[in-house]
Amino acid sequence: MTTVDHYRGSGRRWAGGATLVYGPIAVEMVDMSPHPLAGRRVLDAGTGTGVAADALIAHGARLVATDLSLDMLAWDARRRPPCAVADVRALPLADHCVDDTVAAFVLNHLVDPGAGFAELIRVTRPGGAILVTVYSTASRSAVRDRLDRSPCSAAWSR
Ligand SMILES: C[S@@+](CC[C@H](N)C(=O)[O-])C[C@H]1O[C@@H](n2cnc3c(N)ncnc32)[C@H](O)[C@@H]1O
Repeated sequence: MTTVDHYRGSGRRWAGGATLVYGPIAVEMVDMSPHPLAGRRVLDAGTGTGVAADALIAHGARLVATDLSLDMLAWDARRRPPCAVADVRALPLADHCVDDTVAAFVLNHLVDPGAGFAELIRVTRPGGAILVTVYSTASRSAVRDRLDRSPCSAAWSR
């Protein structure tokens, strides 16, 4: 299992920029929980700088967070819930020890997303929710398709 931290040194930049996009998506994802989250023990796996954790706390959940990147966890650490550096494919948690699990734009980083998903199932209590967001590979935008094709044709991808 390779565990390269591609987000090394990115905490400040992520919190000041990408959060503007990922924050509202995290709020929407958490709002889609099939049951109220107040008082429940929830894992935010691949928490990054904590946008999903913030949304979960706003719902009254009790948080524990993990991420592969120490730099992402270190951002604003004093304000944030308890956390640990951990690969989503090998969580340092007992079976069924959390009520619900969240993984926002994390499984898309894995060559085998199923391995991460299986681990989320393992640590989540039966009947708990597993809320996941990943990037779409489909586009319904002709403009976006054109923009994507441009760097590809200039040999930027692959
Ligand atoms: C696109 S960011 C999303 C961060 C946050 N969940 C959000 O929605 O803003 C992906 C996060 O997943 C983490 N990550 C990538 N691969 C991981 C792995 N194998 N195990 C745990 N975390 C991982 C990265 O360090 C990064 O913080």
